[in-house]
Amino acid sequence: MTATAEFIRGLPKAELHLHIEGSLEPEQMFEFGRRNRIDLAFGSVEEVRAAYAFSNLQDFLDIYYQGAGVLRTERDFHDLAMAYFRRVAADGCRHVELFFDPQTHTDRGLPFGVAADGLLAGMAEAKATLGVSSSLVLCFLRHLDEDAAFATLRAAEPWLDRIQGVGLDSSEVGHPPSKFARVFSAARERGLKLVAHAGEEGPPAYVWEALDVLRVDRIDHGNRALEDPALVRRLVADGMTLTVCPLSNLKLCVVDDLKAHPLKRMLDLGLKATLNSDDPAYFGGYLGRNWTETAQALNLPRADLVTLAKNSFTGSFLPPVAVAGHLADIDAYVSSNS
Ligand code: HPA
Ligand code: ZN
Repeated sequence: MTATAEFIRGLPKAELHLHIEGSLEPEQMFEFGRRNRIDLAFGSVEEVRAAYAFSNLQDFLDIYYQGAGVLRTERDFHDLAMAYFRRVAADGCRHVELFFDPQTHTDRGLPFGVAADGLLAGMAEAKATLGVSSSLVLCFLRHLDEDAAFATLRAAEPWLDRIQGVGLDSSEVGHPPSKFARVFSAARERGLKLVAHAGEEGPPAYVWEALDVLRVDRIDHGNRALEDPALVRRLVADGMTLTVCPLSNLKLCVVDDLKAHPLKRMLDLGLKATLNSDDPAYFGGYLGRNWTETAQALNLPRADLVTLAKNSFTGSFLPPVAVAGHLADIDAYVSSNS
């Protein structure tokens, strides 16, 4: 392990952009498929991995929704979450705000609670056994209509005391944030935090809408905000957190080369960027690998790594006292490693 990788591994950090269904490894696809007696379209793990060559977001989403079909029981969701937590705990991750896509599961007949209760059980076990805290963010699928999002919010009602917020994911272009203005407003009235994917493939106008129409607390991705200097000024002035996902951007051809990734430029502009994995089983790496590969490709100085780690906690939805504790841990770690 290089000195930078070693430094990164020990640095306390949080993950704020992780789709738990995107942590389904091909081996688990076969394991869950076998125990749920589901025939897969693939013959082997190698065949599955070979199919993970994407030229855009939709290419990926088609295979990602297909993969999620093996998740049938609370135990599947629990096991999926625990496998993810074990991997990121080893990467030095202390806190996760994880997305799930309830409509992907309710639309194939699973009751809302199968995914929610299975994930919540895994999250409680991760806290108890690995010391990793987490919260759950329910994402609406933006290729579906707003009525379907409202039905999901209603189905979630009995769980809302255990759900931190709502998000917006799936096919971005053609499905602007304003399509979900009313349901985001209803979620805000229920005290939920609000996040939305914007500016991954969609134009800067979608980021403006996420800010001004949805009034989000955080932007997921946000890469294309850099095309609009007034939008950059606005994001900086608001101290808006961006949950940036470099290996995802590479796999989905949002960037051609990690060396050309805008993360360093974002930091230099004063944007509050964080580093995240998005869908680690599909994009070639969990949190640690996103950090190490990006640090190497962009030659990030330690000061930037520390800023990114601090942003991951100050941009989280943790209570101030917990944020302060993590920031103190980062400072202590940095002083003992300088
Ligand atoms: N973008 C949009 N929707 C998603 C993604 C993403 O990166 N990952 C899982 N659903
Ligand atoms: Zn995402």
